Amino acid sequence: SERIVLGPLVAAVDQGTSSTRFLVFNAKTAELLSHHQVEIKQSFPKEGWVEEDPKEILQSVYECMDRTCEKLTQLNIDISNIKAIGVTNQRETTLVWDKETGEPLYNAIVWLDLRTQSTVERLINKTPGRNKNHLKHKTGLPISTYFSAVKLRWLMDNVPEVHKAVLSHRAMFGTVDSWIIWCLTGGKKGGVHCTDVTNASRTMLFNIHTLAWDPDLCNFNHFKQQHSSLFGFPAEIRIFNWNSHFRGKFFGLKDEVSTVWILQCLGDQSAALVGQMCFQDGQAKNTYGTGCFLLRNTGTKPVMSDHGLLTTVAYKLGRDKPAFYALEGSVAIAGAVVRWLKDNLGIIHADTDLEKLAAAVGTSYGCYFVPAFSGLYAPYWEPSARGIICGLTQFTNRSHLAFAALEAVCFQVRELMDAMNQDSGIPLSQLQVDGGMTSNRLLMQLQADILCIPVVKPSMPETTALGAAMAAGAAEGVSVWSLSPEDLTEVTSEKFDPQINPEESEFRYARWKKAVQKSMNWET
Ligand code: G3P
Repeated sequence: SERIVLGPLVAAVDQGTSSTRFLVFNAKTAELLSHHQVEIKQSFPKEGWVEEDPKEILQSVYECMDRTCEKLTQLNIDISNIKAIGVTNQRETTLVWDKETGEPLYNAIVWLDLRTQSTVERLINKTPGRNKNHLKHKTGLPISTYFSAVKLRWLMDNVPEVHKAVLSHRAMFGTVDSWIIWCLTGGKKGGVHCTDVTNASRTMLFNIHTLAWDPDLCNFNHFKQQHSSLFGFPAEIRIFNWNSHFRGKFFGLKDEVSTVWILQCLGDQSAALVGQMCFQDGQAKNTYGTGCFLLRNTGTKPVMSDHGLLTTVAYKLGRDKPAFYALEGSVAIAGAVVRWLKDNLGIIHADTDLEKLAAAVGTSYGCYFVPAFSGLYAPYWEPSARGIICGLTQFTNRSHLAFAALEAVCFQVRELMDAMNQDSGIPLSQLQVDGGMTSNRLLMQLQADILCIPVVKPSMPETTALGAAMAAGAAEGVSVWSLSPEDLTEVTSEKFDPQINPEESEFRYARWKKAVQKSMNWET
C-alpha cells in the first residue's frame, strides 16, 4: 500500500515521573501522529524516599520509540521523515553513573524524595541568619529537598561507590535528561554528557543571571580551600556542560532513522510552556502531571517572588536567542494522589475511575484532604508538613474522599495562582492547562469553580512533548516558531467557565487553608 507523505516529522521523548512517552508530530501542523506510553515503577524504600531505576527508565524510552515507530509504519507513515528528536523530562531527579562501565551507581533519587530533609536543615543552619532563601538571588530557588544539589550531596555521603567514583573522575552526575541523552548518543562509547539551561536551573548549582554554573556552589575555585562551598563538593567533581543547542547522533533506532539528531532538551514544565506557546511576558500555563506546575513567562528578566514562587529559566530557543524566565509555582502532589488512592488505598482500580467515583456524590461533604506526602512546596516550602484528611463523619464514604482529592489539586493550584497574581500585580484572567489529569472533566470544572476564572485546555493535551518536538524541529530548521496559533490547525481548545458563586468558592477555599495549617502543625 501507498506510503502517506506528510513532509518532515518531529518527535519527542517525554520522560515524566510516572511514565515515559515517545510522540511523533507533523512538523508543519503540530498534528500528533502516533505515540506510545509506558508506566514507570517507583519504589519507596523508606518513609519519604522515592526512587526509580535508571535502567528501567532507559528501557522504557527504547520501548516507546520502537512501539511508536511500529505504529507509524502500520499507518503507512514513513519514519525516515523524523528529522529531529527533542528530549523533555522530569526535572531535578538525580543520577550518578560510571562513565567507564556505563552502569548507574545508585537508583535515581526522584525530585519528590524527602531523604535530604536533615541535609537541608544542616545547610540552612550554615547560612547567615539561617535563611532558606540564602541562594535565591543566584539560583532563584529556596534551599529545599526538591533540587538536585542536595540529592548529590546525599549520594556522595551515603553511597561509597559514588564517593569513590567522584574522586577517581569516573562519576557522571546528571538529571534524567543527561542520562537519557548520554545513553542515546552512544553511552560509554562517547555519549554526549550535557544538560540544558532549564534543567540546569533546577540543580541549585546554576546562576540564572549569568547562565553559568556557580563557581562557589560547584566549588570550581580550586585555589580556594577545598570543601569550602556550601555543598562541600570536592574539587574533583565534574559538572557536565549545559548546552541547549547540542547535536547528538542518535544510536539505537532502526537503521532507517539512524541519521536523526537529538537536538533540543527542555525540562518538562518549560516544554509545556513552549508547547502552549506562552511566549509573551505575562502568559501562563498550568500542567497537571505527578505534581502540578504553574509557570508564568516574565520575559527576558528574572523576577524574584515575594510570595513563595521560584524563579526559573523558562527556555532559550537558539544559540543567539535570549533566555526567557518564568515565575513558577510548584505543587508536589497532584496526579500522585490518584496513584496513591489506587495503589495504597485500593479505592479505585484505574485512574479513570476517580472521576466517576467523585461525580457520584459531587461534593466532599465537608471533608478536606491535604496530600502533603512530600511536605508542602509552593508557597509554603515546609518539608515537615504531612498529609491529613479532616472533616470526616460516619457519613463520609470513598466517593467523598475521591471528591476531596480532586478538590485538593484545585485548591493547591488556587494557592499558586494567588501567589502569582500578588507577585505580578496583574491577575490572570483565564488559566491555560494541560497534562494527563486534564482529561478529567470534573476536575477541570472544579478548577474553574475554585479559581473563579475560566480554564482553557487544548484538545491535544500532550503539549509538553509538542514543545520539545517543535523546539528540536526549529533547531533543525523543519518547524518554525513563526507559526501563529491559528496555523496550528490541529490545536483547538475547550473552555470551562466557573459555575458556582464566588462566595461559595471562597468559603471552601478558606476551609482548605485551615486544613493546610493543620498539616503543617500536626505534631504540635
Ligand atoms: O519538577 C518536577 C517536574 O518536572 C515533574 O513533572 O510531569 O513528572 O509531574 P511531572
